[in-house]
Amino acid sequence: MHSLIIFASGAGSNANAILEYFKKNGKAKVALIVCNKAGAGVLKIAEREGIPTSLIDKTTFNGQVLIDEMRSYNPSLIVLAGFLWKIPDGMTRAFSGKIINIHPALLPKYGGKGMYGHNVHDAVIAAQEKESGITIHYVNEHYDEGNIIVQEKCSIKPNDTPDTLANKIHRLEHLYFPRVVGYLLDKIKD
Ligand code: GAR
Repeated sequence: MHSLIIFASGAGSNANAILEYFKKNGKAKVALIVCNKAGAGVLKIAEREGIPTSLIDKTTFNGQVLIDEMRSYNPSLIVLAGFLWKIPDGMTRAFSGKIINIHPALLPKYGGKGMYGHNVHDAVIAAQEKESGITIHYVNEHYDEGNIIVQEKCSIKPNDTPDTLANKIHRLEHLYFPRVVGYLLDKIKD
């Protein structure tokens, strides 16, 4: 069976969607959840599911111990599901081609430093865009610039607000992210 490592910083609704999907489909298990925020919702989800967690700070995030811990799970993929720190170069090198991220907009628009979570939806609505969406992409050493795997779009109506857009985006994420992870795993031998 494939093993997955999830990185998340917040509520963890995407992490939850992924682990529920693989509980049913049985092809993978979430072996470790890495989080940089004490008290984050994702940690409660991990506790509920009995999944080991690693709570990191800037020092441990950049250290070899975390990489060794991750290696010990032999992950097929490392999934960034609402993780807000830039992955250090040492980690992208150690897990080259195995780290994927979800971004709540249609990259290359509305990406880069500071563009996460609600900031993205605020900017998209302020620019009066007619559509937004999600981007699932590989992670390289440049923030939000790795090769794109999939994009899915949603339309924006004149009465949409950053909050209603966030809901539309979450729906797309929960629908597509687990399936895309499954599709990538099918191409990897476990
Ligand atoms: C998601 O919308 C995800 O796309 C976004 O954070 C949210 C986390 O929600 N990620 C980024 O902005 C990364 N730049 P969740 O904690 O409920 O999964």
